[in-house]
Amino acid sequence: MDESHYERFFDDIGYSRKVFKDEAILFPDYVPSYLPHRDVQIKQLVDYFRVALESPGKVSQKVLCSGKVGVGKTAVTRLFSSLYEKEASTRFKLKFRSVSVDCRKERTLYSVLQSVAAALDPYQPFKGFSARDIHRMILEHLEADNSYLLLILDEVDYLLDASGADAIYELTRDEKGSSRINFIFISRSSTLMAELDESTKSTLLHNHVQFPPYSAGELRDILAQRAPQAFQRGSVDDEVLGQAAALGSSAGGDARFALELLWKAGKRAESEGRDKITPEDVRVVFGDLEGVPSEDELLSLPTQSLLSLLAIARALISTGKDRVTTGEAERAYLAACEEYGVEARAHTAFWEGIQSLKDLGFLTTEVKVENKGRTTLINMNYSAGGMRKALESILGKLPARAFS
Ligand SMILES: Nc1ncnc2c1ncn2[C@@H]1O[C@H](COP(=O)(O)OP(=O)(O)O)[C@@H](O)[C@H]1O
Ligand SMILES: [Mg+2]
Repeated sequence: MDESHYERFFDDIGYSRKVFKDEAILFPDYVPSYLPHRDVQIKQLVDYFRVALESPGKVSQKVLCSGKVGVGKTAVTRLFSSLYEKEASTRFKLKFRSVSVDCRKERTLYSVLQSVAAALDPYQPFKGFSARDIHRMILEHLEADNSYLLLILDEVDYLLDASGADAIYELTRDEKGSSRINFIFISRSSTLMAELDESTKSTLLHNHVQFPPYSAGELRDILAQRAPQAFQRGSVDDEVLGQAAALGSSAGGDARFALELLWKAGKRAESEGRDKITPEDVRVVFGDLEGVPSEDELLSLPTQSLLSLLAIARALISTGKDRVTTGEAERAYLAACEEYGVEARAHTAFWEGIQSLKDLGFLTTEVKVENKGRTTLINMNYSAGGMRKALESILGKLPARAFS
């Protein structure tokens, strides 16, 4: 044996990553330093928050960002807040801190305040303090440090749902020093804000940044921007990008979905030992994904909402129609409750549940006036087949979960 024996040890190198250069570039929490087709929204945020740079501490600015899932609300506010911190410091010599709270995780005033306080001052113990104490400590900290806060409440719908409008009222209340805190509320729906107190509501009516779904062409640009960093040269071509963009736009103009599609198509090509993604890879993974929300997202809903969604998915499948009536949905809901041994909600509560699923972007409803009267038609914003599969699997795994 000679040296050539060892040569094959090198065979894998350069081949193990034939498709990807850096797949993390396609992950949902990666924020690129430029966001195509969101200049308007970023400029609007800059305009709304100029007052906090020109007259710091005089007013507490509040802005609402709304739009469906995957339209760049989180990415834009993250990019904006880091730009804002930087510009505040270099141009205006102001200490601006931004803290983003994910209200899917923090659903009470107390836990929101606690995560803000921990972000501002990680060494401060907060055990045993009330929400009001922590709020005061935050304001005192900002005062003592002569700094300002941009507080981003992402997915604020969940905080409103769980803790009501009072939580927002308490957070934004006009107290001594409170104008050092500025707010961005991120919501899937702009109507949920109707629940807020008059003053906040009228502010947000004016300070509203809307995020429309992306068109296929816009998604194409978003994918094309990431492709050179994410993929090896030549492993993805224009046809594949265009296809993923078109499917992403049919799934509601959702950039997260289009990026996931491209990433999974890459994984598929890689697992089959190829160095190039084909249109067939994209088609196959699209069929697998079927536009279903992530399990995490579904798990963050109460069990009653999961049952309502399952009922609607089943009713859509069994009727073969594009939309079902409230009556059809409710019948399927009663059957699902029986199947899972859960007490069914009364009609009004069921109906309210549907409204909140609509506000969260899972459903679309339309009121139809016919000769018999008004009927509401419900459609699902995801594939019914995919949702049924996902929900049956989640509900099947949750025997011990408190059915609420
Ligand atoms: N204009 C854009 N340019 C580049 N990437 C984008 C753009 N909009 C969204 N994305 C990406 O799409 C994914 C979903 O965006 P995100 O901001 O999380 O949506 P939302 O918060 O509205 O649900 C993220 O990976 C994000 O980086
Ligand atoms: Mg988001």
